Amino acid sequence: MSNTPGFIDVVLGLQWGDEGKGKIADFLTPTYDVVARFQGGPNAGHSLEMNGKKHVLNTIPSGIFHESCINLIGNGVVMDPVRLMEEISRTEAAGAKVKDNLFISRKANIILPTHKLLDAASEKNKGDKKIGSTLRGIGPTYRDKYGRSGVRAGDMFAPDFKEKYAVAIQRHLALMEHFDYSDYNLPELEKEFFEAVEKLKTYQFVDGEYFINDLLKQGKKILAEGAQGSMLDIDFGSYPFVTSSNTISGGMTVGLGVAPKHVRSVKGIFKAYCTRVGSGPFPSELEDEVGEELRQKGREFGATTGRPRRCGWLDLVALKYAVMLSGVDELIMMKADVMSGFDKVYVGTGYKSNSGEEVNEIPFDFVTAGFSSTYKEHEGWHDDLSVVRSEDQFPESFSNYINWLEEQVGVPIKVVSLGPDRVQTVVR
Ligand code: GDP
Ligand code: IMO
Ligand code: MG
Repeated sequence: MSNTPGFIDVVLGLQWGDEGKGKIADFLTPTYDVVARFQGGPNAGHSLEMNGKKHVLNTIPSGIFHESCINLIGNGVVMDPVRLMEEISRTEAAGAKVKDNLFISRKANIILPTHKLLDAASEKNKGDKKIGSTLRGIGPTYRDKYGRSGVRAGDMFAPDFKEKYAVAIQRHLALMEHFDYSDYNLPELEKEFFEAVEKLKTYQFVDGEYFINDLLKQGKKILAEGAQGSMLDIDFGSYPFVTSSNTISGGMTVGLGVAPKHVRSVKGIFKAYCTRVGSGPFPSELEDEVGEELRQKGREFGATTGRPRRCGWLDLVALKYAVMLSGVDELIMMKADVMSGFDKVYVGTGYKSNSGEEVNEIPFDFVTAGFSSTYKEHEGWHDDLSVVRSEDQFPESFSNYINWLEEQVGVPIKVVSLGPDRVQTVVR
């Protein structure tokens, strides 16, 4: 046992997801012993780039490429045995020691084949009101969890697993009939599901809450890696255009089974502009050639689904809201390299509704009022930032942009990421 108590730092996205959590979690991992995921599931796509290679992780925490790092999939995560086994195989092929270093909470709920079908059926049923879900079965699986009918990872080892499975499937098939959805081949899906379950059972399953609290007692440093983004939070995001978990820092304690007192700091990640995949309000969206330029230069296409991401200017109203909700202590700014070349850049500082109402906080009618951003203009920058490795090489207009943002949000920007690779990162 160590005399120095362990602690948890939380790293999470402050926008609509895809802020660069994977890159930063991987970059920060050398100073931690453990990386843990606490919510979400294979709707996440976290990209990591090192030594000229890109890796995408969905359910596995982003510490997996570090030799001695423990990686925990917490109870708050929903995991799909089929997708997780595919991910494990490709991650092992890339050299990671998944058998030794990955631990999965027995209390994590399992995404069943019919959860994915229900996702598709529900989206089809919603028509033009669809969420734009990744169709990975996230919503239906969390619905079963909170409805107290879920199937959990630990159940895979119980003698009555097949019965539990069958009860859930019968319930789901009835729902699918209600949705008039029949576009599937269940026997095929079940075959791959049970094959994946058998393979997955050879990996390490733990009582995650005891496991992580023991690590804290041993003095271990833990990085809790969020998925999605604060504006997709089930309570505080642009409901109903959200995901089905709490993506803010509060989600960490219930998603891992640790007390808030262990949290040392919260690190919030944001892009120097904004993106969103799927439906829902986006007041600073650019549906013009500037948006298209950001999308092309920033390679803004989904890491999980390949869908083009909607692009827009940075939205300070949403950013300040996210900082407040998670108690963010330090900021990490991503992808400003993508904004090089614009004479002027803009930051949304308030919202104006269709009816002319002006606000500078996220109101209850955020989704229905038809808000668009009001902006502050800044000088742009033209240098290639992707080769910059220290703050003293920042162009003046870029330094001014950063300093102004810090002042507005009231939280220091400690890390500036200027490219997808580990090495393209400046610590201030
Ligand atoms: P995550 O879901 O938050 O982990 O983010 P994604 O991996 O889905 O999306 C971020 C994308 O931006 C990935 O393609 C990353 O490789 C890339 N990326 C991350 N940081 C930077 C950066 O600072 N500059 C540029 N140009 N790309 C970045
Ligand atoms: P990472 O962790 C961006 C979006 C979907 C959809 C909504 C609900 O890579 O940042 P769901 O599949 O959860 O039912 O979808 O949330 N969404 C994401 N957008 N990044 C993600 O994860 C996302 N995970 C879900 O596009 O609008
Ligand atoms: Mg992503």
